[in-house]
Amino acid sequence: MNKKVLSYLEKHASQQKGKRFLITGSTSGIGYECAKDLLYLGGEVTFMVRNEEKAKECIHTIENELGHPISAHIVIYDQADPNSIRECIRSLPDTPYDAIVLNAGIYNPKKNSLGKEGNSITLQVNAIGTQTCFEEFYKRFPSSKYVIIDSIVNSSPKKGDYSPYFHRHKEGKPYKDKRNNDYAISKRICMNIFANALESGTKVYMAHPGIAKTNIINAFAPVIKRLGNGFLYLFAHHAWKAALGMCLLCCNDYEKGTYLVPRGPFEIAGYPKPRSMPKRAYKYASNWSSFWENESK
Ligand SMILES: NC(=O)c1ccc[n+]([C@@H]2O[C@H](COP(=O)([O-])OP(=O)(O)OC[C@H]3O[C@@H](n4cnc5c(N)ncnc54)[C@H](OP(=O)(O)O)[C@@H]3O)[C@@H](O)[C@H]2O)c1
Repeated sequence: MNKKVLSYLEKHASQQKGKRFLITGSTSGIGYECAKDLLYLGGEVTFMVRNEEKAKECIHTIENELGHPISAHIVIYDQADPNSIRECIRSLPDTPYDAIVLNAGIYNPKKNSLGKEGNSITLQVNAIGTQTCFEEFYKRFPSSKYVIIDSIVNSSPKKGDYSPYFHRHKEGKPYKDKRNNDYAISKRICMNIFANALESGTKVYMAHPGIAKTNIINAFAPVIKRLGNGFLYLFAHHAWKAALGMCLLCCNDYEKGTYLVPRGPFEIAGYPKPRSMPKRAYKYASNWSSFWENESK
């Protein structure tokens, strides 16, 4: 394991022996690094993922890196499918988790990829998927901590109305792909999910990872991808550093509602620091909950 991570964790995080964590989308990027940190600290981690073989490999790699057996479990689901999310969460053992990290997400899927009911796959996974995960987990584990991941890239729905962004694909009509916009809206919805959960008294926290070089840009066209990689190497940080905020929120006793962001310029990179929650997290949060109430009927 990277020496800088080890010394950071020794200094800033407490031992987690006997603590249980669950991380969605922990087979790559930030989720994987967070799982590794928590395992290093002695915690037990459940990898809630879509690819069992990949998860087994991740666990094997972490075990080799740490040089001792670890306590890890795998549960399979697909965050693009609300039924699969519910089924997976209902099948979990009753022992509560100390913290649940709602990390899984996508940024730039293949063009015109659609999820259920004509929703863009990005909104299906990042917005509907995260909301469904939170709701279903909360029914079973109301006293767990919840960590939600936002992004620098997020934007308000036009006129505060979320409905035009969903069910956009209609049979027989050409589909207008708006992947960047879908991502920005989906991440604002993640902030709204945080705000609504906080208002209802949940122990919820938010981490903003900055910009990290993960699989997130893998679906870009080759030339953009090269430019993107160049940009990311210059300005962004590694996933191990981007994951530290999530890890600290899981391990340490912060006041609920704490928001950790990278401490570098423009919050793009750096070790985590707390900051006040931006007002936009609360903006249109009630619009999202009324939209969701209708949607989930
Ligand atoms: N990297 C950044 O700069 C950045 C910045 C801001 C926010 N974030 C957020 O950080 C989170 C993690 O992203 P990352 O950068 O670590 O990217 P990543 O390496 O692509 O990780 C995304 C994870 O989500 C999983 N996932 C995607 N679709 C899924 C589905 N339908 N069902 C279940 N799991 C699914 C992926 O599974 P597979 O391993 O099977 O592909 C992967 O493990 C995302 O919420 C992202 O929006 C990232």
